[in-house]
Amino acid sequence: MMNFRSFILGLAAAFALPWLLLIVLPAIQYQSLTRVAYDKDKDGVEGFYPPAVVNGQGQLIYIQEGCNQCHTQMIRPVQLGLDGWVKGWGQDQESRPATAIRSNTLRDYLGEKFAPLGVQRIGPDLTNYGWRAPAASVLHKKLYAPHSLQDWSTMPAYKHLYKLQKIQGPASERALKLTGKFAPPAGYEVVPTAEADRLVEYLLSLKKDFPVPGQSAVAAAPAAAKK
Ligand code: HEC
Repeated sequence: MMNFRSFILGLAAAFALPWLLLIVLPAIQYQSLTRVAYDKDKDGVEGFYPPAVVNGQGQLIYIQEGCNQCHTQMIRPVQLGLDGWVKGWGQDQESRPATAIRSNTLRDYLGEKFAPLGVQRIGPDLTNYGWRAPAASVLHKKLYAPHSLQDWSTMPAYKHLYKLQKIQGPASERALKLTGKFAPPAGYEVVPTAEADRLVEYLLSLKKDFPVPGQSAVAAAPAAAKK
């Protein structure tokens, strides 16, 4: 009987402890966080960290479509895993800035209704995608038909976010420039729906390398400081 009791207690502890440490404590810590003001002299920037408000509508579509099943938005410190932050992580390797970007902090997600940290890293991390994203029209093409840009891509096509419509009068300025087997039938055009527009705006806005108050602003966000 005693053994059974310690077994149950042991089992409860084995589940309760990780739950407490991984879920309850971080949740309490997160709820008490607020934005921090920059110190203009020390940080070299004005305003608050984090400065931007997230495009909530676009984020909702990102989550509804399950993008976070394959894409993360979290750059971990190196000591927390093999996929931790290394120089150039999450950036286009060719155009990466000379100074390193940083791993994420809890405050980076402040004000977001959901923090789409991601489930698996099947596709590239999108934390700082806004810095390396192509023009909106190219991004639409990628979502409509990933193979039209990279024929090796394993990313699914999100055709349902686009409308195939008959061309009436002059062709729409917003029509995707598709060629070859991706082109719509003659007399038809493919245009983004409002959802696709919100999603693309959201992707273009993804920048989580704001300088952290108290750290060197220029080291934390070289690109932000320049632009
Ligand atoms: C089944 C997994 C999977 C899902 C789901 C998925 N992607 Fe991808 N995604 C990938 C892979 C793999 C790549 C890399 C190959 C490529 O660029 O096409 C990629 C690339 C990308 C890129 C280019 C990243 C870069 O660094 O250039 C963007 C942007 C992107 N995905 C956005 C999305 C969005 C938005 C959604 C949801 C609507 C989504 N993905 C859903 C697998 C996925």
